[in-house]
Amino acid sequence: MRVVSSFSEARSAAGEAYHRSGGEEGPAPIGLVPTMGFLHEGHLSLISRARRECRVVTMSLYVNPRQFNVSSDFDRYPRSFERDCELAAEAGVDVLFAPPTSEMYESTESTSIHPGPVTRTMEGAGRPGHFEGVALVVAKLLAGLGAQRAYFGRKDAQQLTMIRRMARDLRFPIEIVGCPTIRESDGLALSSRNILMSAHEREAALEISRGLWAAALAAEGGERSADVLRRVVTRDRSRVAWEYVELADQDDASMLDVLDRPSFLAVAASVGEVRLIDNVFFDTGSDGLAVDRGIVLEGPSLLYR
Ligand code: PAF
Repeated sequence: MRVVSSFSEARSAAGEAYHRSGGEEGPAPIGLVPTMGFLHEGHLSLISRARRECRVVTMSLYVNPRQFNVSSDFDRYPRSFERDCELAAEAGVDVLFAPPTSEMYESTESTSIHPGPVTRTMEGAGRPGHFEGVALVVAKLLAGLGAQRAYFGRKDAQQLTMIRRMARDLRFPIEIVGCPTIRESDGLALSSRNILMSAHEREAALEISRGLWAAALAAEGGERSADVLRRVVTRDRSRVAWEYVELADQDDASMLDVLDRPSFLAVAASVGEVRLIDNVFFDTGSDGLAVDRGIVLEGPSLLYR
């Protein structure tokens, strides 16, 4: 694995790895896995999907200050570069792009990206400026690293919708691939923030996945009212501070009253100082409703190793 810190080095390292891998045929040339580090099985599942589908895997590691609307959240965000390098190499990353802020942003630059209505609700409403920050950094990664596919987790559902639309609107020649949420063995969605909770808070946080799973069961039983599904999530669960529970369209993140199309039921809630998000995806088709609750790990996550 090559560790590089500039866009141009990352492109040449990926090009060299591509030529070393031989042949013209086969899967997509370069797959990109954008991350903010402190890797866990969620990131590893993106890397392994990219590994299966692409000849070269580039992973970016950059804790993007522009997407944190609260600076203490940026300061507290867990970081561990050496651990990330080891895990990325073991998982089969060819090129690890870890730029300093001066490489990502020039002091004189003036372009910004406003992703529009898709980001006005849910995370966009609660975290002003967050999606503008994500859009700008992701646009730089999509434009600057030469990948043909980029892999993102469904856990950040609204982010995934926004990135798909941005890539389409700006005509990026890149396929955006959404991958299932990975959960700890008791159902808590994996997030680097999980390590910031005490044991007591972590136990309380299980209300989030339990609420979503109860709603998923209700939907599988035929419930289609967004109001009812939202109430099922929070009913008798008051150990977390619910910020929002919404049923949203997968295509444009608009709010739905009825589950009648591909959508996701998304929540944000805080436990102590830690803010968590989670969701379940609903796909509707001629075969009826398919629910994606994510994938549950069998043992303890490497977050705690
Ligand atoms: O999902 C994340 O980890 C970040 O938002 C991303 C896509 C790497 C951009 O900083």
